[in-house]
Amino acid sequence: MATRLEDLELPEVDLFGLDRREARSTLKELRGDHWLIKNTFAHAVTRYEDVVAILRDRRWHSALAYMPQTTLPEADRPARIGSILTMEGPNHSRLRRLAAPAFTPKAADRLRPFMREVINGLVDTFAATGRCEFVEDVCEPYPIPIICELLGAPKQDWKLFSNWATDIFRIFNNDIANDSAKIVAAGTELEAYVRALIAERRDASRDDLLSDFIAAEEDGDRMSTDELVMMTEAVLMAGTDTTRNQLACSVALFSEQPDQWALLADQPELAARAVEESMRVLGAVSGTARVASEDIEYRDVIFPAGTIVATSLGAANYDEAVFDDPFTFDITREPSSSPQMTFGSGIHFCMGANLARAELQEALPLLARRMPDLSTYATIEWKSANIGIWGPAKLPLAFTPSQ
Ligand code: HEM
Repeated sequence: MATRLEDLELPEVDLFGLDRREARSTLKELRGDHWLIKNTFAHAVTRYEDVVAILRDRRWHSALAYMPQTTLPEADRPARIGSILTMEGPNHSRLRRLAAPAFTPKAADRLRPFMREVINGLVDTFAATGRCEFVEDVCEPYPIPIICELLGAPKQDWKLFSNWATDIFRIFNNDIANDSAKIVAAGTELEAYVRALIAERRDASRDDLLSDFIAAEEDGDRMSTDELVMMTEAVLMAGTDTTRNQLACSVALFSEQPDQWALLADQPELAARAVEESMRVLGAVSGTARVASEDIEYRDVIFPAGTIVATSLGAANYDEAVFDDPFTFDITREPSSSPQMTFGSGIHFCMGANLARAELQEALPLLARRMPDLSTYATIEWKSANIGIWGPAKLPLAFTPSQ
């Protein structure tokens, strides 16, 4: 006989009051006895099996529509931002199908030489000093040229993209009243720019993502200009801060485990494993959330329509039922049929995963080679735990100077 959610007595945890390590051990203790808990703002599942089951069940819809952007006045709301993330059903499947060819591993591979060039250029500016503030010197500037190159936007416009992304990300600063004008202006300018770029590509296609999007066709169906604009902006927004923070998280982790850093420098062929393992141990996106689109019975519990459930990707990544010795960071760990969860799962699984993997796989071994004997010269400052895309705010690194 199923029990209604409100009749259950569940342990309550204020995860935002804990640092990541404390949160991990608290969740580990709870996970043994409880598959469902209450956290600061919603119910939450923390076992790998339940996180995957909910993310793969189409009755659970994306809860990102509940993000702060919805507090903007309706007329100013950047509905296009991340809207593929909030779409469901046939419209969502159709867009994913049309866009998929532009996000294959092969499409990401064509940018690998450019990724190496960008990272090398950034490291050149500080390699001889043996010190850097890694977030500002590498993570912040790294993804924008790559997204611009992917889209086919010329180099002289990189700065524009960087400024637009910064202003649009103000949505997450919890100061909408002051930031609203900048957010709206950046969205409007970006949209005008992208529309012009689309018009250019319609006239003359090139070897870039936008041309791939325009060419994408299935049974006579194509993306409309509005959809092209939305997808392009989704790529810019979903593909910059995530990559920045993940690179910073991964390198912060290596700075605590210099043996693993030296191993990666010696064996760059471990890059793919190093990326998956560092994303498992310290993922920049530690969770997402779903809302019940109807009354849903799961594991003998009835979740009334409208219930929000946080699916903890970070906790699933530490589930002993799936990963042996999960608290150990080991870049030689064998790939498993149960992948790390930081890219999500189900219909909203990260569309840019191949690109993000390529960016990190190119960056990490190159950095390990050029920044040997890695350590921190001051304490790492972390962003506040209630930020959706999380990582170090400052990562002061020291290393043996190189050329
Ligand atoms: C390490 C970097 C990245 C991480 C950790 C990450 C993580 C995620 C996660 C967890 C989701 C699913 C959210 C949910 O289910 O609610 C997602 C979706 C998405 N990501 Fe990423 N992402 C990264 C990089 C990128 C890049 C580089 C791009 C684009 C070039 C991108 C584009 C997208 C898009 C378009 C979606 C929406 C897919 C959909 O709703 O169907 N991401 N990402």
